[in-house]
Amino acid sequence: MNDSQLTVELGSRSYPVYFRTAARTELVERLVALAATGRLLLVTDTTVDALHGAALVGALGAAGLRVVQATVTPGEASKTIAGATAVWDAALNGGVDRRTPVVALGGGVVGDLAGFVASTLLRGLPLVQVPTTLMAQVDSSVGGKTGLNHPTGKNLIGTFYQPRFVFSDTAFLETLPARQVRSGLAEVVKHAVLGAPVLLDALATLGPAPADLVALRSVTRAAVGHKAEIVAADETETGLRAVLNFGHTLGHAFEADAGFEALTHGEAVALGMCAALELSERLSGLPPRETHRVTGVLAALGLPTDWRAAFTPAVFAHVQRDKKARGDRVKLVLLTRLGEPTVVPIHFHDLGSTLTALAAQNTRKTT
Ligand SMILES: NC(=O)c1ccc[n+]([C@@H]2O[C@H](COP(=O)([O-])OP(=O)(O)OC[C@H]3O[C@@H](n4cnc5c(N)ncnc54)[C@H](O)[C@@H]3O)[C@@H](O)[C@H]2O)c1
Ligand SMILES: [Zn+2]
Repeated sequence: MNDSQLTVELGSRSYPVYFRTAARTELVERLVALAATGRLLLVTDTTVDALHGAALVGALGAAGLRVVQATVTPGEASKTIAGATAVWDAALNGGVDRRTPVVALGGGVVGDLAGFVASTLLRGLPLVQVPTTLMAQVDSSVGGKTGLNHPTGKNLIGTFYQPRFVFSDTAFLETLPARQVRSGLAEVVKHAVLGAPVLLDALATLGPAPADLVALRSVTRAAVGHKAEIVAADETETGLRAVLNFGHTLGHAFEADAGFEALTHGEAVALGMCAALELSERLSGLPPRETHRVTGVLAALGLPTDWRAAFTPAVFAHVQRDKKARGDRVKLVLLTRLGEPTVVPIHFHDLGSTLTALAAQNTRKTT
């Protein structure tokens, strides 16, 4: 395994993901090489711009590039058609041409927005993802899903559009609040559970406020390796890619019910995974000790595990509105063993009664 890069294998659209720590000079060189007409469009948010954007823009300018900037307000509200319009305006007023790369410098919000803009502007501009949150480094920057929110739901507008490369530098994480780092680690746990259980032991040793950027780089590399394999096998989610929703059907419901401020996405996914593990014990034969192994790792990382406390009738109502629900069933990702996911269609009625029965067992043994 090459520790410093991997390739997402998609035929002529294959692309590298670079794993680095403090490598701005290399990033600038790669961007200069891609920017055939001497300019690029840098999409970021105001927080990331203040922390990391100015230094990058300075280095790009010193290397002779003209940088057109589109800087949005941080947060989900920018991942909308109004946000996309603001970026289109900045780009077109700034004189982008068909070979101008769009560089997404930021978390998943910026990545999804910039990806959408790159896929639509002038019928498609080269895209580069430079993820600055752990969530974006382990998940959203790889795989080519772009997305905008609509008043009726999150990520309902979007395209599949792969980047030319992803430049994942753990030095960006030095300025990320510890809670956001933990949130990203929940997605790493998800990848470990689905495809690389050996990674769980390494994760357990990171602790609740990981400061070791090199150790983070290696778990990031492992999680992205798993995601890249799945994306290569099923780019547009006609089948296998659905396993990446592990913990997310319930996780999204916890997130929506608690309010997006109260629980981070990763915290909600941690709770969703805990519920999915217990459902797996009941419905697909997962040995209880495997549930305990995963909940132990989540707890060691400072992530919540008490899904019962968060489970309310309103949560279940959210599950029934899940966009992946079909009629009276929802497809749930369960496990038969760690590393062996299975997608099971389940009636809402059965899911509701099983969850209610599990939630009532609040004396569950923890050993
Ligand atoms: N496309 C996909 O496959 C995919 C996958 C997972 C999630 N997503 C999307 O990603 C989004 C969530 O991403 P996120 O968790 O990165 O949130 P985010 O982009 O909102 O970033 C979280 C916060 O951290 C700040 N920030 C970013 N980098 C920072 C840094 N280095 N230091 C300090 N602060 C920094 C941002 O300004 C923001 O306030 C959601 O919209 C979700 O739908 C997409
Ligand atoms: Zn997620």
